[in-house]
Amino acid sequence: MSTYKNRVLIIGAGLAGLRAAIKAAENGSQVLLLCRLEGGRAASGCAQGGINAAFNNYNDNDSVKMHFIDTIKAGGCIANQNEVWELCEAAPEIVEEAASYGALFNRLPDGRFDQRYFGGSKMRRTCFVGSSTGQALVLAYESAVRYYEATGQVTRLEGYEFLSAVLDNDGCCCGVTAQNVKNGEICGFSADAVIMATGGGSMIYGKSTNPVLSNGSAAGALFKQGARLANTEFVQFHPTAMLGVGQDKTRLISESARGEGGRVWTYKDGKPWYFLEEMFSDWGNLITRDKASQAIYYVCNELGLGLKDIDKYSVYLDISHLPKETIDVRLSSVAELYEKYSSVNPRNNPMAVFPSAHYFMGGLYVDDDHMTNIPGLFAAGECDYLYHGANRLGANSLLSALHSGGKSGGFASEYQRNGDRMSFIENEIRIQTEKDIQLKKRKGTENPYKLAQSFGTMFRENVFIVRYNEILEYTDTIIENYLERLENIDILDSGNDYNNTVLFARSLENMMNYGRAITKASLCRNESRGALYKPEFPNRDDDNFMKTSIAEYNNGKIEISYKDIDTSIMPISEMEEK
Ligand code: FUM
Repeated sequence: MSTYKNRVLIIGAGLAGLRAAIKAAENGSQVLLLCRLEGGRAASGCAQGGINAAFNNYNDNDSVKMHFIDTIKAGGCIANQNEVWELCEAAPEIVEEAASYGALFNRLPDGRFDQRYFGGSKMRRTCFVGSSTGQALVLAYESAVRYYEATGQVTRLEGYEFLSAVLDNDGCCCGVTAQNVKNGEICGFSADAVIMATGGGSMIYGKSTNPVLSNGSAAGALFKQGARLANTEFVQFHPTAMLGVGQDKTRLISESARGEGGRVWTYKDGKPWYFLEEMFSDWGNLITRDKASQAIYYVCNELGLGLKDIDKYSVYLDISHLPKETIDVRLSSVAELYEKYSSVNPRNNPMAVFPSAHYFMGGLYVDDDHMTNIPGLFAAGECDYLYHGANRLGANSLLSALHSGGKSGGFASEYQRNGDRMSFIENEIRIQTEKDIQLKKRKGTENPYKLAQSFGTMFRENVFIVRYNEILEYTDTIIENYLERLENIDILDSGNDYNNTVLFARSLENMMNYGRAITKASLCRNESRGALYKPEFPNRDDDNFMKTSIAEYNNGKIEISYKDIDTSIMPISEMEEK
């Protein structure tokens, strides 16, 4: 048994976790950073196109207020206004900070940040590092955290999979348990405060633009332990993804391609049809992701005009008309990625793309200080729900990861906890060890990997861009059936060392429970808003649903309730006129 005593414990070393570590260390806390993968491999690195900050470097009247309005409107007007205002206000300083840590942003000739167009905004607001912005930011924040590792204020442990929060008799979090992936040991870690920075869960859809470990497992486990989830029905399908070599995941073809002038089309009557430009004359190819994906679904599914040979929802994204210099300087990794995985050069040919699960707007419910409903347990980054409402504005993900990470790091480091911890930690280690032993004894007839594949395919079919109540009701029941089948798996490997099947099977249960929350919240919201589209309820219903949904796990049942949103900064009617 390993037990450690630390003040702030952070789970996950993506941008949210890294910035939380920096802010907590700056505040004088001792930080333990616990993560599954080696440094630099977090999902934040997959974000390509950029990070929003209203510098107004192109003199197009951009401002914090315009960034705020675009964010709220893109989110179907249900994001909490105070929090979004703070996010937009913090953005320029965050980009400056990232540059000071070494992120090599593209610059204008006079040295200011270059900025590009992105979906959902008429201003050039997105700062970028070519089309590899996420990777550049992860490297920059990694090196900043290494400084605190060198001073001894941050300790990093790699190769640990989160299992559970440790709760004391009052239901407060006083640490976590985690499994050492190398030798299977179940360990306990105590803390004054814990920050979850474990990313999103798009892999519940079987394939996504995220790394395969972005499966929502940690949030799913906490959900079962009593943490609330919010707005789970809102899942972003990025309109332009491709299949890679291998069946594990999809690959993002960045929105920056459209930001730089790329056009989406398909054949109609033998000629290219630029349907986004026709359907959304004000926005064209820069329409927000929810609407773009819904339009692609309509064109492929209802009109039957998709490129049927690749994916049934495929259309073309064309950058072949762009100047060579634009591609070389601003989109080179988009072009390289597409050519690498398709052997087609997008400098001369259109790219075949389709919508893919990309981002969870919903996540762990947190208050303004980023604390969940479990005292002492905080959440930041894609695993919290706070900033994006019903649909995230493109290029706000890196921003919200860094902003929420910093905020949670600050608040968590101020959170002091008294009283015994070790007895609760030891008890939870015993519980998790027993569960691990029982899991390793499963010798049933279901193959866990095939079961996961079947679950992902079913989930994508039934809880996709367009949703129907009858299918959602059916899905709710069959997920229960999948959970029963999971009890009957053959664990394949009962050893301790590098036992990936045990880790995988445990995640699968958490993913299924998270999937139930997505399904149930979708079923209960009888309207269409942002990324949730229901043909039976095609309009927004502000009277009944201008609210945050809350999912709670209660004795195996999932209950949905609603909470009012904060609209204290600007009336929605005023915003919609802008
Ligand atoms: O399309 C993109 O480059 C993705 C960016 C984002 O998710 O914000």
